[in-house]
Amino acid sequence: MPAILENPLRVGLQQEKTPEPLILIIFGASGDLTQRKLIPAIYQLKKERRLPPELTVVGVARRDWSHEYFRAHLKEGIEKFSDGISNEELWNSFSEGLFYCSGNMDEAASYEKLKAFLAELDGRRGTRGNRVFYLSVSPRFFKPALTQLGAAGMLADPIKHRLVIEKPFGKDLSSAKSLNRAVQRVCQEQQVYRIDHYLGKETVQNGLVFRFGNAIFEPLWNRQFVDHVQITVAETVGVEDRAGYYETSGALRDMLQNHLMQLFAITAMEAPNALDADSIRSEKTKVLQATHIADVNNLEKSAIRGQYSAGWMKGKPVKGYREEEGVAPESTTPTFVAMKLMVDNWRWKGVPFYLRTGKRMPKKVSEISIHFKEVPLLIFKSAAQQTNPNILTMRIQPNEGISLNFEAKMPGPDLRTRTVNMDFSYGSSFGMATSDAYHRLLLDCMLGDQTLFTRADEVEEAWRIVTPVINAWESPSNPSLIPEYEAGTWQPTEAEFLLEREGRRWRRL
Ligand code: BG6
Repeated sequence: MPAILENPLRVGLQQEKTPEPLILIIFGASGDLTQRKLIPAIYQLKKERRLPPELTVVGVARRDWSHEYFRAHLKEGIEKFSDGISNEELWNSFSEGLFYCSGNMDEAASYEKLKAFLAELDGRRGTRGNRVFYLSVSPRFFKPALTQLGAAGMLADPIKHRLVIEKPFGKDLSSAKSLNRAVQRVCQEQQVYRIDHYLGKETVQNGLVFRFGNAIFEPLWNRQFVDHVQITVAETVGVEDRAGYYETSGALRDMLQNHLMQLFAITAMEAPNALDADSIRSEKTKVLQATHIADVNNLEKSAIRGQYSAGWMKGKPVKGYREEEGVAPESTTPTFVAMKLMVDNWRWKGVPFYLRTGKRMPKKVSEISIHFKEVPLLIFKSAAQQTNPNILTMRIQPNEGISLNFEAKMPGPDLRTRTVNMDFSYGSSFGMATSDAYHRLLLDCMLGDQTLFTRADEVEEAWRIVTPVINAWESPSNPSLIPEYEAGTWQPTEAEFLLEREGRRWRRL
């Protein structure tokens, strides 16, 4: 009998617990994320009775809003972006805990004013000095905010004070290191919650349960049986109204360095010794340390970028990236990126991991597929044109689930084979929709569980892996040509070659 240390289905979970009374202070509270994601997620937690009655939220931003205006703005967000408000009484009790305090991110006086207001709220709401500071501001304000929070002593208590930082955490390895140093100057790592919302997705966490809660897959999960792995995050949306940010970021920084790298780490890591935050994060860091771009000296063979040109989505014409509002007409910002990674360790030596992500692709779909090796000898040669290698697919979104392709004999007197599918789907197995990532992440942070947040060394490793590509693409000597793909198509042909030259191809999604 194996020893039962902890129920693997509760990977990092503490969901039955209720957080201590606290004040959540959101910097950048007039922004989209607060209205669209954060407050709807907190309200959902309130509905599920996961929050203490004392829970208090203070929004901070430059605009001169009143508490009432802030509350009405957030109510509108809940109605627009989530299930809405079905119970006015519940909303009233929730909204009594919502406050607004205008201030400038880089001005000491604003922090003194905020500090006094928080102390007053502690008295009124019984929040006992517990604080979660959530930086949902433009990255240029991260350092000034940290400096001011530090100077005002607002992060001084390692138990009562926590810090949440939204992405992007840096723009390359050296800026990420410098931001980590700024964080470390004002608080300890145990207080820091770096957000990567992909880690809050149910299906991503299930990757750990699937691998380490079942005995039959892990023995196959290595270079002996796996030919290669593909990780795809395809989006249908374009740059929308975020050109200001996206022009400085592009698909590599916006998606690959963080979200895809986390999917990669969870797929490739070793089994952690335990389910606590540091055991899991140490294993992710370890596998990232062993990872590099396939051929650093031949980057054009292992890293491909692309940009969408005008095309069609769902029967409607859409603009090319360079025609979008706020985008430079000569922009070389990639909206697509594909990369081949190799892992130098005993488990994965020689197995390529192909990652790709792009905007304005035909479908919104995120998945990880493990492509197993071919059978050593094809004995059905005369009966079948070919048999297909087994593929195990973890569907992150939509239609969340896992499927395994294998060959089966078609009914009838002839020996003919066809690829069939064994399928698990969250919807039909559990009969409930998976909840939004922020719902889980906010609760974990309030409970003090860092498992689903990235650690300083982990983020730096992820930047280290992609930095040679950033340097090459952004070097002044690099020709300012970028391959194009038509909006509504899968990718530039260069990305097809990335696999085709090795006798492989991207999965058709
Ligand atoms: C964000 C990126 O982090 O993730 C966006 O900044 C992207 O550009 C989004 O659209 C995708 O998230 P999801 O959960 O819709 O897959």
